[in-house]
Amino acid sequence: MIEPQLWHPVIASNQVRDQPVACTLLGQALVLWRDQASDASHVHAWADRCPHRGARLSLGRVLIGLHGTRLECPYHGWQYGGDGGCRHVPAAPDFVPPASHGATVFEAREQHGLVWVRLQAPSQPLVASLADPPAFAPGDDPAWRAVLCGPYELNTSAPRLVENFLDLSHFGFVHEGWLGERGHAQVQTGAVEEGEAGLVVRDALAWQPRAYASAQAGAWVAYRYDVPHPFAAILRKDATEGDPVSNAIALFIRPDGHERCTAWFVMATRGDSSTDQELIAFQDAVFAQDRPVVESQSPRALPVGRTAPVSEVHGPADRVSSAYRRHLKRLGIELGTC
Ligand code: FES
Ligand SMILES: [Fe+2]
Repeated sequence: MIEPQLWHPVIASNQVRDQPVACTLLGQALVLWRDQASDASHVHAWADRCPHRGARLSLGRVLIGLHGTRLECPYHGWQYGGDGGCRHVPAAPDFVPPASHGATVFEAREQHGLVWVRLQAPSQPLVASLADPPAFAPGDDPAWRAVLCGPYELNTSAPRLVENFLDLSHFGFVHEGWLGERGHAQVQTGAVEEGEAGLVVRDALAWQPRAYASAQAGAWVAYRYDVPHPFAAILRKDATEGDPVSNAIALFIRPDGHERCTAWFVMATRGDSSTDQELIAFQDAVFAQDRPVVESQSPRALPVGRTAPVSEVHGPADRVSSAYRRHLKRLGIELGTC
């Protein structure tokens, strides 16, 4: 399975503060905690299980002392250093714990306001775009600003949610009056490039009733999509003559398990006068429109033609979703697919 060898977002960086927090990635229970010992604080991601008697380390606490920062287990108080090694057994203070008494440590990084974790080192070299968390750089212009929206916890698979994000033809129905209009439901799927590094969709066109905050009338809007990672996608809309707003929105998803996921959007904008709170409220509202429909899809796993119990039929406007399904199959993605 390739999924544990990829980087996945697990939690917003600002949610990992002075005490440990728990989450689940690919069915693996994790404890995240922040090491404050050095100048540059950094986050650790470990299996949420004490090697002594299996208690959840996320119920413990972070200690800052003369020896640096340690994570203390809630059960018998064993203390672990930042490298996962057991440093102290309070009931036997002279005991020097061997390496076998250490916690299970995973690689962790912080990027785009999120903590990213990789559960396994790649068994063979991955394409460059998958060797690190996905890149997302809206533009060098300092007028760009970005806000993190989420987390959105969903009872469906990560691939179902990516496909929803790539799908323009639901706008007029699910987001009527917001992102589309039922009387203007026709879309143009644009040019789809399928490569080893992912998908790129150029010049996808959808009618938007209000393409930006001060728009007076509806207009055709051109989007570009990138799918640099099986569970991430980036949408981009550049300002045009008459439309002063540029948007770049990244969807990053934590696959909790086969039928459950947690999503964040990084919304970057330029030329939009909305406040950060207004941008977040807008995204929350749009996501609330998607949720009941996406959670209703059956099966929750995305049929890519591996072991699908039922088939789905496709229309001419589904070219991008078909390309995404082929891409997942090519990569050998099993999680959340059938
Ligand atoms: S179970 Fe963690 S110290 Fe005993
Ligand atoms: Fe939607």
